Amino acid sequence: MVHESYLWYTSADKRLRFSLLLAEWLRQSYAARMLATTVPIVSQPYLGDCLDVLTTLADESVDLILTDPSYGNEYISRSHSLPLTKIANNGQEAYDLLDQALAIAWHKLKPDRHVYIFTNWQAYEPMAAIVRKYFKIKNVLVWEKNNFTRGDLKGNYGYSTEWIMYAHKGWWPLNGKREGNVLHYKKVPTQSMRHPTEKPVELLKYLIEKSTLEGEIVLDMFMGAGSTCVAAKRTNRRYIGIELEQEWFAVATKRLEAVTG
Ligand SMILES: C[S@@+](CC[C@H](N)C(=O)[O-])C[C@H]1O[C@@H](n2cnc3c(N)ncnc32)[C@H](O)[C@@H]1O
Repeated sequence: MVHESYLWYTSADKRLRFSLLLAEWLRQSYAARMLATTVPIVSQPYLGDCLDVLTTLADESVDLILTDPSYGNEYISRSHSLPLTKIANNGQEAYDLLDQALAIAWHKLKPDRHVYIFTNWQAYEPMAAIVRKYFKIKNVLVWEKNNFTRGDLKGNYGYSTEWIMYAHKGWWPLNGKREGNVLHYKKVPTQSMRHPTEKPVELLKYLIEKSTLEGEIVLDMFMGAGSTCVAAKRTNRRYIGIELEQEWFAVATKRLEAVTG
């Protein structure tokens, strides 16, 4: 038969060892957290699934989210010069991916800062319903392009715009003078496109300058050919870009290397 005092001793011992383990775990996680929040973020393109990479970023470390996710329209480019013509996660799964990505990215954005998410009129409803779960949509910016996409040439108006959801986590003022929500920027000419849905760097620079200061950090978790990161670098901001496909990641890295200064 086991003596009562022995039982007390072993359970007290277990309690002590548990307390020591807990104290060590708390010390290590505090140290890791302090390290993560104090090491300055250097600009970097990441190759991988944004759901994995986003979790590695420190909470409240990002000053702006500016991103261009798949619109869920199964778009396939007709270009023969691009390394890929189909966009990953561009069916209905695009919406679930956006939802999961924003759930993580919300924690990474500093309080009160801005979010821009590209969309179009067909994808607006499902995408806005997701964005509203995390951020307050303040406006929709209409990007007026200098061309129409094809389609029903006789029976429909040409699509000459894409839309950009402008949202807040809290409230933060825009830089510069008050401006309207129609933005006129030429699309990237088809023959020089590096990605089937490449966005013009000048448009991205405009949005970055309206919502951040020099040195601040811009996050694009659907980086494609890296246009947002190029715009951030050209405006002296830091950037975090994430891309799933090796082909686009390689294009983005090469483009970023070519941006000097
Ligand atoms: C609409 S494109 C972005 C194009 C970009 N704005 C540009 O100018 O090149 C969306 C990109 O998200 C990428 N993507 C899809 N699923 C992803 C994921 N889970 N993690 C990271 N990137 C992903 C696609 O490969 C695609 O290149």
